[in-house]
Amino acid sequence: MSKLEGKVAVITGGTTGIGLATAKRFVDEGAYVFITGRRQAELDKAKAEIGRNVTTVQGDVRNLADLDRLYDIVKAEKGVVDILFANAGIAEHTMLDSITEEHYDRVMGINLKGVVFTVQKALPLMTRGGSIVINASIVGISKGVQSLGIYSASKAGARALIRAWVPDLSARGIRMNAVSPGPTDTPIFESQFGTVERAEMARQAAISATPMKRMGLPEELAAAVFFLASSESSFITGIDLQVDGGMAQV
Ligand SMILES: NC(=O)c1ccc[n+]([C@@H]2O[C@H](COP(=O)([O-])OP(=O)(O)OC[C@H]3O[C@@H](n4cnc5c(N)ncnc54)[C@H](OP(=O)(O)O)[C@@H]3O)[C@@H](O)[C@H]2O)c1
Repeated sequence: MSKLEGKVAVITGGTTGIGLATAKRFVDEGAYVFITGRRQAELDKAKAEIGRNVTTVQGDVRNLADLDRLYDIVKAEKGVVDILFANAGIAEHTMLDSITEEHYDRVMGINLKGVVFTVQKALPLMTRGGSIVINASIVGISKGVQSLGIYSASKAGARALIRAWVPDLSARGIRMNAVSPGPTDTPIFESQFGTVERAEMARQAAISATPMKRMGLPEELAAAVFFLASSESSFITGIDLQVDGGMAQV
């Protein structure tokens, strides 16, 4: 039997990269998925690619009214959430002297505030227990990158939430873990570096800094998220599973 048969999953930022690969994997394993993102065109494309058992909900994880609308739709269509993958995130590079309030608010708003309220607002629907996975990063948790100070703080903060909340969630039958990608080949490289050429240079730098001498595939991250979401990891809560080709491990 498929491992997620009958399960209902919510994935924020499910239109591209790791979120999209995870949505496809969850549906292949029998789940029904709700995916979100800000761009309607990307939502439409993702829906066509996933093909079945998917509802798209446009919204920004910083906006609490958008999160309320997301969970209202989930409640009306399925009445329950079994798996939550708080995945939506951005990376923006700024050196210490150039950090602005706008940069701080944008990165912390999406990567940390977004996670806080995505999780909090899912809980009333997690009535059967379940699994929450946060997409963190080896950057901020195990590695430092000079130009990613605020990104690092947002991801370390997300990891800290897990330690704080696991006792409460355990009492509700909910496990909560992080997956921390190393360099993974997704459009986040284009969005954070601005041009195709600069994204390619960053990819090459990441490859040479990784013991396995390659980037991760979104599907390899999806496999780790699937593990944490499914009963295969039934005695695992509170961890940060680093999927990074060894980059932060050796
Ligand atoms: N790829 C890597 O090397 C890597 C490494 C470490 C950690 N990560 C983490 O992995 C997660 C997924 O990234 P990815 O690499 O798969 O990048 P991606 O392909 O750019 O995916 C990001 C997803 O998040 C959505 N998103 C961004 N801001 C949002 C917002 N405010 N509200 C709702 N959705 C939003 C995007 O859609 P819209 O833009 O349309 O909203 C998209 O669906 C992120 O949290 C990232 O920090 C990635």
